[in-house]
Amino acid sequence: MAKYPVTRTTAPKAKPDESSLGFGKVFTDHMFLMDYTLGQGWHDGRIVPYGPFALDPSCMVFHYAQEIFEGMKAYRTADGSVQLFRPYENARRLNNSADRLCIPQIPEEDFVEAVRELVAVDEDWVPHAAGTSLYIRPFIIASDAALGVHASKTYIFCIICSPSGSYYAAGINPVKIYVENDDVRAVRGGTGFTKCGGNYAASIRAGQRAEELGFAQVLWLDGVERKYIEEVGSMNVMFKIDGKVVTPELRGSVLPGITRKSCIELIRSWGIEVEERLLSAEELFDAAETGKLEEAWGTGTAAVVSPIGEMKWNEREVVVNGGQIGPITQRLYDELTGIQWGRIPDERGWIVKV
Ligand code: COI
Repeated sequence: MAKYPVTRTTAPKAKPDESSLGFGKVFTDHMFLMDYTLGQGWHDGRIVPYGPFALDPSCMVFHYAQEIFEGMKAYRTADGSVQLFRPYENARRLNNSADRLCIPQIPEEDFVEAVRELVAVDEDWVPHAAGTSLYIRPFIIASDAALGVHASKTYIFCIICSPSGSYYAAGINPVKIYVENDDVRAVRGGTGFTKCGGNYAASIRAGQRAEELGFAQVLWLDGVERKYIEEVGSMNVMFKIDGKVVTPELRGSVLPGITRKSCIELIRSWGIEVEERLLSAEELFDAAETGKLEEAWGTGTAAVVSPIGEMKWNEREVVVNGGQIGPITQRLYDELTGIQWGRIPDERGWIVKV
């Protein structure tokens, strides 16, 4: 039995052409809404036609960015069914973000059920073309109409969905990234480990600079010593150096990616060592210049597994694996997308059917 009431749209939209979806540009017919009121808790979960919010201009989210979000996907399998990938991990991470931003948590079951029921209502929007999926964006905003800096007493939890193709215009082709020396994305003790809008707002300037220079994204250094690699704009990052996979450890300033975690589990299951540790830009570029850097790739829900073909840091510019996707990157992409789209049996309990 469905948990949440549904009000169906009376004006369904035309579905987009699946061959040119891009990322996050079109939205489905419905959205999920739930309200929070201090003293009452989360209440009135419901699925309603997709549409704009009416919010007071003094609303806290507009001024102090008390906001968090998640990113996840629904996949169409060969038999036409629809499935989610590790949605309980998203529920847990949303609640960890909520805790840091003083936002009330949502019970994991309620979160996953809301996602499932919304995707079921908009099931026809889950695209069929190879490599496409329904990107799901749950988010919570502080809705008190007040300018005092304190935690809001009311919130809105909303989920919207967008049929999407590749995050990068280049698709699975290797991307070029640029090591940023000046701006920092996060510091320990801050909000780096959360998915809050503010982290991304702080990243836009460096992202623009990188794009102007012809790079797809920024590779962030740590905010204290500006020495250690942290993550790329919209993904975690991994390198194969001298036979081992190295990825920045989670020290509070790096996003605990669900694709990151899944890739680490897969790589270890193949008998390849993974080191989660500090990796300085110096060590990385030295490894590249001495032929020890075999592969580099990013991981993320939107970006999936994305090979990195070139990196620039100050005057040092390196090409990774001849600018081609490497064998571990390809194997990870194939295995992960195989499980997500149901081509490979899910032996780890990662899949939840809609
Ligand atoms: C995701 O991969 O789901 C993200 O949230 C990254 C994004 C900011 C596009």
